Amino acid sequence: MKVILFGPPGAGKGTQAAFLCDRHDIPHISTGELLRAAIAGATPLGERVRGIMAAGRLVDDATVIELVRSRLAADDCKRGFLFDGFPRTTPQAEALHAAGVAVDWVVEIQVPADLVVDRISGRRVHPASGRIYHVKYDPPKQPDIDDATGEALVQRPDDRESTVRDRLRVYQEQTGPLASFYRELAEAAANRDEQGIRYGVIDGSQDVPAVQAAIAALIGQPPT
Ligand code: AP5
Repeated sequence: MKVILFGPPGAGKGTQAAFLCDRHDIPHISTGELLRAAIAGATPLGERVRGIMAAGRLVDDATVIELVRSRLAADDCKRGFLFDGFPRTTPQAEALHAAGVAVDWVVEIQVPADLVVDRISGRRVHPASGRIYHVKYDPPKQPDIDDATGEALVQRPDDRESTVRDRLRVYQEQTGPLASFYRELAEAAANRDEQGIRYGVIDGSQDVPAVQAAIAALIGQPPT
């Protein structure tokens, strides 16, 4: 199973990726997480992208494409993968396509802008594991403490309301057009009667289990 989860900030991509990767036993490739790990490790890449990410802008295509190329070379990607937050621009999608990486499903999670702000402003994360909580919709057992480790939860630096609005604008301008890119690829595959890439849309404004069920109904369960 090779899946792209596509949608605005706060759509629930990371939340649903955790379920899907567990169920299909595939690695979760989040370019946001890879970049945040570089920042946490104070690597040269991390130092270069820290300010860009905090401001809600996109990291340059060449850097992200190289990050993904090297991650895809790892053995665990042989059984499939899930992309969360990649591709995010037309050059990134074209690079993936040109590299001959065959994707089974592009799943677009749609949510309205006001919900995005509500979700992101209440998000708390456990940096070491990437576990995601929400103060209202998915609270930890103890406020600001990770359920599994007892360690502190944090708010991402790019989760301030003003930055979230910038991230939404960047999404609409630079990532939104990928919907047409992938819809057209899926239609072309269907017209050729091929088992190529497929495209589906999910209403992400439902609660977490309902979104989870809708994605499972769309892409199917793994064979047992
Ligand atoms: P990235 O980390 O990819 O962030 P994003 O795409 O903006 O998405 P988020 O992680 O904010 O949201 P999500 O959809 O995963 O929602 P979540 O599940 O957490 O990118 C960050 C930055 O990195 C970018 O701005 C850019 O600078 C850089 N970057 C990354 N990839 C790049 C690329 N390819 N090219 C260039 N630059 C790149 O859910 C949000 C909250 O809502 C949580 O609190 C959760 O508990 C809650 N929630 C989730 N689902 C529901 C639900 N159904 N009901 C109620 N609450 C819910």
